Amino acid sequence: MPETTPGNTPAPSTGNDSVSIESVLIENRVFEPPADFGHRVGGAYIDSLDAYHSLHRRSIDDPESFWAEIARELDWFEPWTPGSVVEWNLPDAKWFVGAKTNLSHNCLDRQIANGHGDDLAILWEGEPPAPGQSEGNPEVRKLTYNDLHAETCKLANVLKDLGVSKGDVVTLYMGMVPELAIAMLACARIGAPHSVIFGGFSSQAIADRVIDAKSKLVITCDGAWRRGSVVPLKANVDEACAKTDVIENVIVLKRCDNDVTMTEGRDHWWHDLTSRASADCDCEPMDSEDMLFLLYTSGSTGKPKGIMHTTAGYMVYTYITSKYTFNLVPDRDQLYWCSADIGWVTGHSYIVYGLLPNRVPTLMYEGAPNHPEPDRFWDIIERHKVTQFYTAPTAIRAFMKWGSEHPRKHDLSSLIVLGTVGEPINPEAWMWYHEVIGGEKCPIVDTWWQTETGGQMITPLPGATPTVPGSCTLPFFGVDAAIVNDDGVEQPTNVGGLLVIRKPWPSMLRGIFGDRERFIETYFSRVKGMYLAGDSARRDERGYFWIMGRIDDVINVAGHRLGTMEVESALVSHESVVEAAVVGMPHEIKGTGIAAFCTLDPGHNPDGPEATEELKKALRAHVAKEIGAIAKPDMIRFTDALPKTRSGKIMRRLLRAIASGDTSTNQDTTTLEDFSVLAKLRESEEG
Ligand code: WTA
Repeated sequence: MPETTPGNTPAPSTGNDSVSIESVLIENRVFEPPADFGHRVGGAYIDSLDAYHSLHRRSIDDPESFWAEIARELDWFEPWTPGSVVEWNLPDAKWFVGAKTNLSHNCLDRQIANGHGDDLAILWEGEPPAPGQSEGNPEVRKLTYNDLHAETCKLANVLKDLGVSKGDVVTLYMGMVPELAIAMLACARIGAPHSVIFGGFSSQAIADRVIDAKSKLVITCDGAWRRGSVVPLKANVDEACAKTDVIENVIVLKRCDNDVTMTEGRDHWWHDLTSRASADCDCEPMDSEDMLFLLYTSGSTGKPKGIMHTTAGYMVYTYITSKYTFNLVPDRDQLYWCSADIGWVTGHSYIVYGLLPNRVPTLMYEGAPNHPEPDRFWDIIERHKVTQFYTAPTAIRAFMKWGSEHPRKHDLSSLIVLGTVGEPINPEAWMWYHEVIGGEKCPIVDTWWQTETGGQMITPLPGATPTVPGSCTLPFFGVDAAIVNDDGVEQPTNVGGLLVIRKPWPSMLRGIFGDRERFIETYFSRVKGMYLAGDSARRDERGYFWIMGRIDDVINVAGHRLGTMEVESALVSHESVVEAAVVGMPHEIKGTGIAAFCTLDPGHNPDGPEATEELKKALRAHVAKEIGAIAKPDMIRFTDALPKTRSGKIMRRLLRAIASGDTSTNQDTTTLEDFSVLAKLRESEEG
């Protein structure tokens, strides 16, 4: 293997406010697509770098014909207006203008009409053993397209009976059960946009999102299994209902059989309603630009933003990226598994919507990766013979830490393609994934994208792109990605800059729900005429992209996207905290951890080390209550004052340096108002 430069780990995304490449990653290892890839996968769709380049060129030069050809692989109720595949009126894009279709139809009815109703669509595995079984005998459900179709239609009819009509937002707060996919498909079927809230979020987070979306109906479960215990989803919804009167109806799926309180007139059991519903429900003909879903994600302010995705562009783009990035081929015994939660965009696009139209079964796993043992994932891959596996770098780092003996106990030879998403992958984790999981024979697709982009934007194609550990390589078809400065001028090779997309792509966000100004301000202001991703990056000699980190106050904690301001607002809402500053810090497993610096109300100053620890514990619990456990700070530091500029801005750069253990004094502090503040913070670090 070629030599590598020591210390070649990319800087984790700790939210750099300046774009620089002080620590350029020098990575010389190149992995060509394996010679037998095409054979193993049933034919590579894109089988050489030349083929990629020529198709990419065509997709940029002639998007009209390129996208029309792909769109014709799916069903349309009415065609788009000729010449109107894309209309770009910055910042607004419209795709497949004038056409009518329905994504639920393309996921289900289309497969059934083509004679595949009895094919496996979703293979679900529960976390606990099947009822009456011992450990090692998990509950497995296999749903065909016919099964999914019947259940989806029943729920769609239930929704209509409860007064949901086209355009009404339905909130889904559920565990990883097939009914979550069914609920999404039922909403899509009747044209009611869904807003899925990750089951790890708190009741406050539910209330905030429900209010913003004016969502009158919530679908939830009694509970969700997680590492052997029950997450009380229904109780969280009850608490949310106490915080707002927007919610009129709650449908509750029985999963864990834990005790729940049902409120007469508001709460309904899923099984009661669906048992009486018809299994036939026509699809609403959706205009291409009708809203498909809302998904809340974190940004630079304390308020999460509802990212809007519409029907046709999202449908076509997630379909084709799934197909090419994972080389999905139906009728070849492929079984695809994405281990993300559907509560995040990865689950929307690459468990449900991109997969079902491709007719390769999608595996859904309910629980934790280390329950009952740290080999649970490898056990799943071996038992079900998973062929494509997609996970996050943070999970890979945890697996490395738990030890290679766990995957080594299992036969993982069914695997053909491995994927990663959500944060930069460090070369050590990449190599471990390649060697220990992929047996050195599976291409790794490191896919860069965002909630806003709807689908994968920069990614290797497994049969075509030579990979380099740590690089997400080249843009997908139709994606005109570039690294520019603030004037929109492209940066030279290996010089860091702003990652932008210069042309519209089918699944781009269509706005932030109810906040046009924030949409323009966040994505289309800093660099004129281009979509600003919010990441810094560079391109190397090959033209490969290397993501360096966020340029805003967003942090990727264990692959979960959080805004530092959200955590700050949660902290100051505690009676003891006067002011809080939150920054990212390097974390061995999570990639980025959360560091919080707080100034305290004098009346709440803890008395002695024990009381200090108590208060830190209380604050962590408070953040969990306000947002969710994923937002708990990894480190809390109490300080008399926060370092600020003369104009009163908190100097996050300095706090980041302190949080990452950099106690050197060569940080630029010329604008720091009170030098003693910094000196004190450093002292407490050393002490
Ligand atoms: C980061 C997740 C490096 C990036 C699909 C982006 C990545 C943010 C990668 C979006 C990757 C995602 N390499 N960084 N392969 N994929 N990111 O909205 O900072 O939860 O802006 O979407 O994750 O996070 P989101």
